[in-house]
Amino acid sequence: MIRVGLIGAGFIGRNHFNQYEQMTDRSKVVALCDKEPNRRAGDWTDVGGNVGDMQGTKRDLGDIKQYADWHDLIADPEVEMVDICVPTYLHAEMSIAALKAGKHVLCEKPMALSVEQCDKMLAAAAKSKQKFMIAQCIRFWPMCVWLKEVIDDKRFGTLRALQLRRQASTPDYSLNNWILDPELSGGAILDLHVHDTDWTIHMFGKPKSITAQAYPQPNGAFDRVHALWHYRNDLVVQIEGFWDMPPGFGFNMGFTARFDQASVVFDLNSGKPLTILKPDGKDETPQMPEKDGYYKEIEYFLGCIQKNEDPKISTPAESRDAVAIALAEKESAQTGKPVTIA
Ligand SMILES: NC(=O)c1ccc[n+]([C@@H]2O[C@H](COP(=O)([O-])OP(=O)(O)OC[C@H]3O[C@@H](n4cnc5c(N)ncnc54)[C@H](O)[C@@H]3O)[C@@H](O)[C@H]2O)c1
Repeated sequence: MIRVGLIGAGFIGRNHFNQYEQMTDRSKVVALCDKEPNRRAGDWTDVGGNVGDMQGTKRDLGDIKQYADWHDLIADPEVEMVDICVPTYLHAEMSIAALKAGKHVLCEKPMALSVEQCDKMLAAAAKSKQKFMIAQCIRFWPMCVWLKEVIDDKRFGTLRALQLRRQASTPDYSLNNWILDPELSGGAILDLHVHDTDWTIHMFGKPKSITAQAYPQPNGAFDRVHALWHYRNDLVVQIEGFWDMPPGFGFNMGFTARFDQASVVFDLNSGKPLTILKPDGKDETPQMPEKDGYYKEIEYFLGCIQKNEDPKISTPAESRDAVAIALAEKESAQTGKPVTIA
């Protein structure tokens, strides 16, 4: 039984709390910290979001300890693992402190706002004997796991082209709108789009170079990016991410993968399942496991702690690269030039 201390009871913290409740054989949330008194007391009625459980409820926290100051949570000897679900500008400071305090750390994506901060987190993890992972949930999402599998085993032949997209209305649910301040969140290019920079690294490794176009908002935030990642000459990887749409747009994600012998399409807003389109005009919809990527990533991290193994499916070094390449896309957009990566 792994004893968890959760910091941040907002959109994603509430989601993680719900996951732990489905894994009571392996974990128990023993402490919860949020700077907001209602949230650390389990009143999540003012917590919103754009995917999954979008509206919070009031929860009876029973014997879970409530902390106003995160330093007290990481100093609590009962806490073995700290789950960091606070705004991105706090990730580095909290992760480093928790690792130094001898805790296992699961920290939300993106890893941090800069490569320098990521490197400090990696250095703290290297000095620690505990496990450390960034919660890059897409790597664990059943249809994303499936897509990587079919790329690797070539069951539809060679992949020729892949388009990934993550698209949203401007977020209006974060506490005091911290997410709209690029100094705190990094803007959509880091906060939203990092899901796909990380997933692309997971599928293909680092590209040779990237080219991107984007434009800054009046506050300097890059909330839209269209990027091309250059691998081998005959593979086209195009990734787009934005949250500059009006409220009515909502949230969408999807992908289009063109293999030699089939194509695979998924678009959340279409309401259709992932579909394999065959050259003979027939199509198939493969069965996917029931549990989602949030459950799977936490289940995996708990397993790493139990088996005393460093996470391999998602390594902190790759999470750092996902941040670095998102920032390289910003550089490419600003200079109008390709950026060499690997
Ligand atoms: N994996 C995903 O799909 C996913 C989805 C949403 C958010 N996220 C990430 O999770 C992080 C949090 O985002 P969110 O949408 O949950 O934000 P949010 O605003 O909904 O919640 C953040 C919570 O952290 C608390 N908090 C802020 N500063 C604190 C402090 N110093 N001490 C204690 N509590 C503090 C706030 O009171 C709030 O309850 C971000 O890094 C974001 O990118 C990931």
